[in-house]
Amino acid sequence: MDYQQAVKDYINFKNLSPKDKMWTFFDEDMLLQSFVFTQQLDKKGVLELIRLAHTLQKHYDVREFRQNIKTILGGYSCVLYFTQPSSRTFLSFSLAAQALGMSVEEIRDPSTSSAVKGETEIDTLLTMAALTDLIVMRQNSKSLIEDVAFELKVRGLKTRLINGGSGTDQHPTQALLDVYTLGVDRNLNGTYKVAMMGDLKHSRTVRSLSYMLAMFNNVQQIFIAPDEYQIEKDITDHLTEHGVVFTLSNNKAEHIRELDGLYIIRLQDEYHELGVKEGTFDNFKLYAYDLSIMKEDAAIMHPLPRRDEIPVFVDFDSRAEYWEAVEKGKFIRMALILTMFGYDDEFWFRLNNGSLLKPALREK
Ligand code: NCD
Repeated sequence: MDYQQAVKDYINFKNLSPKDKMWTFFDEDMLLQSFVFTQQLDKKGVLELIRLAHTLQKHYDVREFRQNIKTILGGYSCVLYFTQPSSRTFLSFSLAAQALGMSVEEIRDPSTSSAVKGETEIDTLLTMAALTDLIVMRQNSKSLIEDVAFELKVRGLKTRLINGGSGTDQHPTQALLDVYTLGVDRNLNGTYKVAMMGDLKHSRTVRSLSYMLAMFNNVQQIFIAPDEYQIEKDITDHLTEHGVVFTLSNNKAEHIRELDGLYIIRLQDEYHELGVKEGTFDNFKLYAYDLSIMKEDAAIMHPLPRRDEIPVFVDFDSRAEYWEAVEKGKFIRMALILTMFGYDDEFWFRLNNGSLLKPALREK
């Protein structure tokens, strides 16, 4: 393709809705080349990833299994380009890639990259694409990742790309681990009421989770926030379009008794232009009284990091799921990487014929 055509294609691409853009992000075998938006998956795809993650997690204590899955992507490489702070997402991607045998490099501080020499971020990312098989990126910008996905496609590069958090827009792998944690896959005929509470306006994890839960028509969504921090209209439009039952509320007390899942987030003040009026979020935190009236089997969730919206004593309540969710995050990311490299069928085959659970055969 020549340059003029690439520029035209880019202009057309930027004018597409996320729904139409996402077809650019698959390769010729219809494998996900770039995972940018939650909406690129469908319910079946989400359930398959959860099943794969669950299987990986189930066998992970078997030493031979760990050793054998380390050969699956041995020789492949991954770079983590994280220019925003991260502990969990960064570490779990790094360990997930290494658990599958990939070598992992990182760039976290742009002052150590060629950005200081005036290189554009796209050129820095093209360098990573030239050298590695997988880029996972997290950054402040909402749109850089889709531009990178477009560049990979237009330049015919095979490098895979995963969104580890794109500004206030999306965090699709967090949504995967949240749905895995919530366990909606365990009872597809049951009805669930799931509330998201806090600074919903600026939360990429809530946006991605809402898109993903919208795939499950047995899940009702409740958004609990001060009015000026409510979820954005593009999400409620999407829910309406897909016939999802949802409620906007500023009153936790009205809903807390009936919830099957409560997903709480911290104040996302790195994205605020103005300060927050003191006390604004006091009624959007979890207190001992809330625990006393919540359902016995409700799931209390949080993407972490937390501040004071979930006090530490809640960690000891059997409904607290957020620490276990951290571990699940590694396995769902392993499942995603395997799937994006086309290894899910081979994985099942090798698991079913026992070779992944047996000691590896030594060469004579
Ligand atoms: C979240 C994020 O970075 O969006 N953290 C995470 O990835 N687990 C949530 C947050 O920072 O509040």
